[in-house]
Amino acid sequence: MLVLTALAYLVMPLVDRLTVQWFVKDLNLRATLVANTIDEPLYGLVAANDTPGIRRFFARIAQDERVFAMGLCGTPQGTPVATASLPGEINCANLNSFSDPTGRVLTEAQGPLLVSVRPIAPFGDTVGRIVLVQDMSFVERRSAQTKQYLFYFFVALGVVVSLITVAVAQLSWRGWVHGIQALMRGEGLLRPAHLSDEGELQPIADDLRTLIRDIEAEHRLRDEEQLAWTPETLRGILDRELRGQDVMVVSNREPYIHVRQADSIVIQRPASGLVTAVEPIMRACSGIWIAHGSGSADREVVDRNDRIQVPVEDPSYRLRRVWLTQEEEQGYYYGFANEGLWPLCHIAHVRPTFRTSDWIQYERVNRKFADAIVQEAKSPDPIVLVQDYHLALVPRMVRERLPAATIIAFWHIPWPNPEAFAICPWRQELLDGLLGSSILGFHTQFHCNNFVDTVDRQLEAMVDRETFSVSFNGQTTVIKRYPISVEWPPNKSLVAIPVEECRARVRERHALPSDHAIGLGVDRLDYTKGLEERFNAVERLLELHPQWIGKFTFIQIAAPSRASIEQYHDYEQRVRALAARINERFARSKYPAIILEAKHHEPESVYEYYRGTDLCFVSSLHDGMNLVAKEFVASREDERGVLILSQFTGAARELPEALIVNPYDADQCAAAINVALAMPLRTQRTRMRLMRGLISEFNVYRWAGRMLLDAATMRRRGRILGRPMQASRWVSAADDAGPEAPAHPTAHVQSESFR
Ligand code: F6P
Repeated sequence: MLVLTALAYLVMPLVDRLTVQWFVKDLNLRATLVANTIDEPLYGLVAANDTPGIRRFFARIAQDERVFAMGLCGTPQGTPVATASLPGEINCANLNSFSDPTGRVLTEAQGPLLVSVRPIAPFGDTVGRIVLVQDMSFVERRSAQTKQYLFYFFVALGVVVSLITVAVAQLSWRGWVHGIQALMRGEGLLRPAHLSDEGELQPIADDLRTLIRDIEAEHRLRDEEQLAWTPETLRGILDRELRGQDVMVVSNREPYIHVRQADSIVIQRPASGLVTAVEPIMRACSGIWIAHGSGSADREVVDRNDRIQVPVEDPSYRLRRVWLTQEEEQGYYYGFANEGLWPLCHIAHVRPTFRTSDWIQYERVNRKFADAIVQEAKSPDPIVLVQDYHLALVPRMVRERLPAATIIAFWHIPWPNPEAFAICPWRQELLDGLLGSSILGFHTQFHCNNFVDTVDRQLEAMVDRETFSVSFNGQTTVIKRYPISVEWPPNKSLVAIPVEECRARVRERHALPSDHAIGLGVDRLDYTKGLEERFNAVERLLELHPQWIGKFTFIQIAAPSRASIEQYHDYEQRVRALAARINERFARSKYPAIILEAKHHEPESVYEYYRGTDLCFVSSLHDGMNLVAKEFVASREDERGVLILSQFTGAARELPEALIVNPYDADQCAAAINVALAMPLRTQRTRMRLMRGLISEFNVYRWAGRMLLDAATMRRRGRILGRPMQASRWVSAADDAGPEAPAHPTAHVQSESFR
C-alpha cells in the first residue's frame, strides 16, 4: 500500500500536465476551425463596414459554452470590434504577443482562458485578425475528475494486491503447516535437507522396527503365559527362576538422601533417571541397594553396618551406604566420571578432561564399592546389578572375587563411536572392567553396536556379531539392549491431585491467568539437556507467532547439578542470563516468556507441573533414554498434553507419536511448539493414547524383568554345563530361534527360547 501511495504521488502531477497539454492542443485546433468557418461571412460584414452586425455575429458564436469572447482587429492600432466579455488586456496593439499558434493562457478571476489569434483572409487578402478566447475551466474540472478516478484506481489496485498477497500467504502457510505435520509423522514433506537424510534416521527406523517386533513377541508371550509386567511378575521371576535370590543393586547415587536442615533431618529424593527407574524395582524385589552416602545427615541415620531400611514410611529394602572422603568424591565423581566420561560419552561440545589423579580416585572408589558388594553377598553366586558409568571397573573387580556371580551392568548414558571413545587414556581398563559382567545393557541397539565396535577396535577380544557377545580374559559378556522405562501405573501419591486442580495450582503459583498456555521443561541443570536451545526456540516462537506474546509462558524446572564443576557453573550462568534477556525483550507483555525455577523439586511437585501444563519439551542434545519424556506421558491419564522430544534421545526411538525435533534447529522447534499449542484435543488424545499404551507395556518392571530372566537362563545353562556360567554357550543356544526376532540383524539373544 505504501509503495502504491508513493507511486500515485509521483504520477499525479505528470498526468495533470499531460491532460492540460492535450486540451490546449484541442482548443487550438478548434480555434483554427472556427476561424476557417467564419472568415467568409465575416469578410462580407467587414466589407460592408457593418460593425453592429459583426458584434451580433460574434455574440452568437460566444453563446457556445466554451467560447468566452471574440474580437476582430482590422488595423494594428485600432480598437477591436469584440464581444463585451473580451478581457481588457487584449487590444489590437498587443495582439502579436498572443499570436503564437499554440495560443496563450491568461489566468483570470473566473479561471484560465486560452487566447488564440487567427488571420481572416478568405480570398488571399488579409482583412484583419480575429481573437478567440476560450474558457479552460472545464480542463481543471476534468483534471480533478481524472485525479479522483486515479485515486480510486490505486485504492482498488491496493485492495486487489493485498487480497492476492493474503491468499498466497494463506496457501503457503497451509502448505508449511502440512509440511510440519508430515515431518512430525516422519513422511519427509518439506523436510529440511539434513533431516531427510535417510542415513541419519536409519538408527531410529531400525529401533522402531525392533520395538514393533518386541511388542508382537511380547503379546505372543503374554498369550502363552499370561505374563504382565508388574511388581508381582518381578517377585515371581525371583522366586521361580532365581530361587528366591536377593537382588543387589549398586550405584553412585542413592535413592534417599538425608539432609540436615537446622534441627531436623529431611529426606530428599534426587533428580535422577537412574533412581526413578531402579527404586520401584527394589521396592518390588527387596534386596539391598549399595550407594554413596552423600547427604549431610546420612551417617546419623544408618545402623552400625551403614545400613538403613527404606522407604522410611514403608520399609521394603535395605540401603547400604558407602562413605567417600572429599578427595575421593572430587576425583572419582566430579573429576573422572563427570569431567571425563560424561562429556566423552555425550559428545555435547564440552571437551572431556582426564587427569591421572582423578583416575586413581576412580579406581580406588570402584574398589570400595566392589568390597561392599562382596561383604553384602549372601552366597558365592549373587545377582548384582551394577549401574552406570561411575562404576565401570566394578564388574571385573567383583568377578575376580566372586567368579560365580551373575553380574548385569547397565550403562545409562550413550556409548560413543569408537573414534570418540579412543581419546580416553584409560579406555582399555574401562572396557576390561565392563567385560567382567555377564550381561552388559544399553538403552538402544545403536549404543550396543558402538560398544561392540569399540571393543573390536581396542582389545584383543573375540567379538561374535552373530550372538552379539564378547569373549575376553576367559569371560564372555552378552551385549544387549534393554530400554529403560518408568513405573506403570505411576505411584498413586504422584497422580492423586486431579489434572484440573494441578492446572489451577500451577497458574495460581505463578500468577498466570486461568487460560494461559504453559510449556514445561524438567531437567538437571546440565549442558547435555539443551536448555539454551529450548529457550532460543521459545524466543523464536514469539518472534514468528507474536500472538503468543503474553499468552504463553515456558516454565523450566532445573535441578542444580554438579555445580562445583566449572562447565556446569558457567552453564547455569548462561541459562539464567538467556532467560533474563528473553524476558527483557518481551517485557511489554504482562506475563513472562520464561520462568526459570533453578532449584530442587520433589517428585510430587514435578508431577503437579507435568499434569498442569499444556506441553512438555525435552530438547536434550544427546541422552541415553530420558525418563522425563516417559514420566510426562505416564502422568497424563487425561490423555491431554503434547510431548516435544529431541531426536537425540533414546526415548525418541520408542515414542514416535511425540513431535520429534532437532534441538539445534530453532525454527523447527518453534514450529513444533506452535503446532503443539494449536493441536486439537482429539489429536492430542490419539497421540497420548498410543504413547501411554507403549509405556504401560514397556514399563520399568519389564526392563528389570527381562534382565533377570536373561540372568536366570544364563545360570540354568551354567548349572547344566557344570560350571558357574558360560555366556558363550548360553548365547549360542539362541540359534534355536526364540519367539522374538533379533533386534539387530545378527544381534539379539532372547531368553524366552530357554524357558
Ligand atoms: O544419566 C545418567 C545419570 O546417572 C542418570 O542416571 C541420572 O539421571 C543422572 O545421571 C544423575 O546424575 P547425578 O547422579 O550426577 O546427579
